Amino acid sequence: MIRFGVIGCGHWGRNYVRVLTELGDAARLVEICDENRAGLEALRKRFPLVNATTSADQLVANPGVDALVIATPAATHAALAEKALNAGKHVLLEKPLAATLKDSVRVHRLGQEKGRVLMVGHTFRYNDGVRKVKELSGKPEFGRTYYLSARRNHLGLIRPDVSAVWDLAPHDIEIFSFLAGAQPATVSAVGGCFLKPGRQDVAFITLTYPNGVIGNIQVSWIDSNTVREVVVIGDRQRIVFDDINALEPVRIFEKGAEITGDVNSFGEFQHQLRDGDIRSPKVTMREPLRTQVEHFCECVRDGKPPLTGGAEGADVVAVLEAIDRSMAAGGAPAAVEAWRKPGEGGKK
Ligand SMILES: NC(=O)c1ccc[n+]([C@@H]2O[C@H](COP(=O)([O-])OP(=O)(O)OC[C@H]3O[C@@H](n4cnc5c(N)ncnc54)[C@H](O)[C@@H]3O)[C@@H](O)[C@H]2O)c1
Repeated sequence: MIRFGVIGCGHWGRNYVRVLTELGDAARLVEICDENRAGLEALRKRFPLVNATTSADQLVANPGVDALVIATPAATHAALAEKALNAGKHVLLEKPLAATLKDSVRVHRLGQEKGRVLMVGHTFRYNDGVRKVKELSGKPEFGRTYYLSARRNHLGLIRPDVSAVWDLAPHDIEIFSFLAGAQPATVSAVGGCFLKPGRQDVAFITLTYPNGVIGNIQVSWIDSNTVREVVVIGDRQRIVFDDINALEPVRIFEKGAEITGDVNSFGEFQHQLRDGDIRSPKVTMREPLRTQVEHFCECVRDGKPPLTGGAEGADVVAVLEAIDRSMAAGGAPAAVEAWRKPGEGGKK
């Protein structure tokens, strides 16, 4: 049994608190921590057997805790994760791994050095809908992937500390890396700061991948129409993941355009338009956060590297930084920093 502590019990951290009390013999929630005394007290009433503290240092020093979930604002991630790893704890840290690539890489390497599991909460890697899209887009009937498109728009929750890019785009950047099987090489992005100078509320981001795939991500927290959608366009099919459609989260459109390979007399490629059915495959949706926490427990128990470890978390932050550079340069393409040393590979 893995003994857990949770630091940061706000909007998202509360879900970890609940999930960790639902895992039976795999995990036991020992102590929760939040600087906000009133919120902590309310949570303690719901879970009276769990200790509570307002001091992260106290929880980090608790010898009865093996692993820490950190669900605090992004700017605090690196320092808290470093404290936890230095105290010998395994760490499940919320996205983004840290506020800069430099900090992200340092935390990742500390995890390796300490031989502890460091996993980043890129929840969509543990989403059955996204996993279904990955499976379907790898089949011969899907054909070749042309491009990826994502929209993540809603009204609020507007964060005081990070932009909509750093809050929302980590999800789609990670989903795209999973689907494309690669880290993007370049990004170009334009953003708008409508509510607060210097902090983007909306952004339009274009990504290029070394395998010729291109991607586009739109994020906004000032759009009253809620959309959470990822689309993969191939030569034979189009696959849609709609995160707010509980009935049909994944749909396959058996339609596409492909080159037949012949060149006609006008020197143009001939192409074929394909028309077919629209299908909704069966997807058994489990709670992604629970699947994520179960995966973390498995990694701690069996000494396995997580699917979304420190390296994958740093990859996402490298893309976020490139997006910021591109936005600062008025949308000019920015290269994504290749931070990995030779041999410091990872999986996609
Ligand atoms: N994976 C997802 O789908 C997902 C969804 C929502 C939020 N998140 C991430 O979770 C993190 C938290 O987001 P949130 O919406 O819960 O924010 P929040 O502001 O609601 O909660 C953060 C909590 O951390 C506490 N806190 C801050 N610093 C602390 C410290 N040093 N010690 C103890 N407590 C501290 C605050 O008092 C607050 O209660 C962010 O990194 C966010 O990106 C991820």
